[in-house]
Amino acid sequence: MPKTKHTVRFMPDGVSVDVFAEAENLLRVALVAGVHVNASCGGSGTCGKCKVKILEGEYEADRSAKISDEQWEEGYRLACRTRVTGDLVVEVPIESRHEKGVLARLRGTGQDHVLAEKHWGAEYETVPPEPLVRKYFLELTPPSEGDNISDMGRLAQALKRDYRIDQVLGEMEMIRSLPKVLREGEWKVTATVLTGRCGNRILRVEPGDTRKNAYALAVDIGTTTIHAQLVNAFTGEKLAKAAEYNAQMSMGEDVITRIVHAIKPGGLEILQKRAVKTVNEVLKEVFDKTGVLREEVTHLVLGGNTTMTQLILGIYPRYIREAPYVPAANLFPVFPASELGIELTPRTLAYAMPCVASYVGGDITAGVLATQMHLHDELTLFMDVGTNGEIVIGNKDWMVSASASAGPAFEGGGVKFGMRASYGAIEQVRINPLDLEPMFMTIGQQKPKGICGSGMIDCIAELQQCGLISQNGKFNRELSGVTWRIREGEGGWEYVLCKAEDSQLEEDLTITEPDIDNLIRTKASIYAACSVLLKSVGLHFGDVQKIIIAGGFGQYIDVEKAMTIGLLPEVEPSKVSYGGNTSLEGCRIACLWSGKVAEAEQIGSMITNIELSVSRIYMEEYVAALFLPHTRMEEFPLRAKKLEETNKLLGEIRRAHPQENP
Ligand code: FES
Repeated sequence: MPKTKHTVRFMPDGVSVDVFAEAENLLRVALVAGVHVNASCGGSGTCGKCKVKILEGEYEADRSAKISDEQWEEGYRLACRTRVTGDLVVEVPIESRHEKGVLARLRGTGQDHVLAEKHWGAEYETVPPEPLVRKYFLELTPPSEGDNISDMGRLAQALKRDYRIDQVLGEMEMIRSLPKVLREGEWKVTATVLTGRCGNRILRVEPGDTRKNAYALAVDIGTTTIHAQLVNAFTGEKLAKAAEYNAQMSMGEDVITRIVHAIKPGGLEILQKRAVKTVNEVLKEVFDKTGVLREEVTHLVLGGNTTMTQLILGIYPRYIREAPYVPAANLFPVFPASELGIELTPRTLAYAMPCVASYVGGDITAGVLATQMHLHDELTLFMDVGTNGEIVIGNKDWMVSASASAGPAFEGGGVKFGMRASYGAIEQVRINPLDLEPMFMTIGQQKPKGICGSGMIDCIAELQQCGLISQNGKFNRELSGVTWRIREGEGGWEYVLCKAEDSQLEEDLTITEPDIDNLIRTKASIYAACSVLLKSVGLHFGDVQKIIIAGGFGQYIDVEKAMTIGLLPEVEPSKVSYGGNTSLEGCRIACLWSGKVAEAEQIGSMITNIELSVSRIYMEEYVAALFLPHTRMEEFPLRAKKLEETNKLLGEIRRAHPQENP
């Protein structure tokens, strides 16, 4: 449990909430506390509706034209422009709230379990990097009449003497440059060496000590999105990240349609080039952000599901799709990244994370490596929610995996205003159950331009909790007479989350019934896959000691909301961790420590894969999960009770306070 930094008390309801991050945004604190503050611009500071009055305590706030000098003197601030730096007492003014206690009764007074993305590799941070491709500084003894061995022999001797690296071979290009570099550097040089089971190779020699100018790239090849992270391979420092939609998307949203394209004449080449084009775009972005030169990158580590791995490596993927579902290889050699068309020097080596089976790939071995579930006794359920939902259950002694076609809904695909978790994406949503008005925050606190996975989870859970949608995801049409936000749009019934004038869009930002259907199908496939996998080893959700959910949802995930929609099973929230992009994190770890590459290969060989397509019960489980949260409500007893209580209370309140309804 993180340490509480500050406490914020919201008046007049008296709701208190613990704040764990320094300088946390006050609007986010209100949102997590379940305190409704009007906020219709996502926290970008432009709507001026999130005015609150600070009664006492320490904070920092930005001036805004939305607050007059007189109001500023009285203590009024924009919640979205205020950072909490001490214990605070805040009054939510009448225009921003509703009858005292009503919301607290509806929401309960406990704060939500909003998890920030966990920083998995933290325990390695104190260990100096020892990458697969590493730079070594050497001071050589100049040749003399009594010591005239070859330049290469002298270099090899020094590597053995100073670093115990034996039996090295030099790359031809390096040998060509060697006589000049040694003398230019006055026998003080830096050698870039690949060490590994296939022997030790000197890739490059530079004059002087250039060890600090060594960089590596972690690249996650997602079916929907490609992410890259640049790190300093000498210090381990994280330098920059970038992400872009995979240019293969126009050739199908899932791996099956990509394979179908790839086996057409010329198809594999087109798909390979498209993935590489996106990789080159994200690499350009990290180089532009940091000023690092391409020639200073020593190596990169790629992680992706098996289809994405084979496609970027240019390997014919047909047999992944045909029974008995055989991948070309699970382990791959180290090779020059430029061979794939990646815009790096021929000296920059690439390594692809090991795969497990046709539908459980290097993204999963990377994820297990990052989360370290393979090192602990606790029975852990690891779910990586991407376009393919990949699940691993086990501990340090055994692991089983399965994969389900989930769809890209949580990454923004198939959702009208869905987008990747990047600036301007709505990431947290609350809806006031009384007037059905939303409050939300965006990533980077910009005007909204779409909604990412965590925003969708929140939004659907809130729509259901406010009675706006029923358990089958359909809008309660009757409420269109109560709020203008429910309406019949061109694509069917929808809820207006943000008006066009408050967004970066030219039309209202809505959540539609087809969006909700897509999300329900996605979460149903993940839940069903977990359920079948557990049953296959004679276990059930109650046996699981730890759940790690990974994926590109956003910076935060609200565990309670994820349970409300049935993406997660109903467990004690403290058992759940949010992994973020564990594939990228695993690739980063493999970039920096060669021992972790060997560990990833061990993980790959340790996992037993179970094929869901031959499971007799998967379809049954999937259909049962096509409900919010599930048709078997006995598996969600707390949600069932809460749903019943909320509906009862809402009915009472709406009858007793008709004036609350606009
Ligand atoms: S000004 Fe703060 S949410 Fe709009």
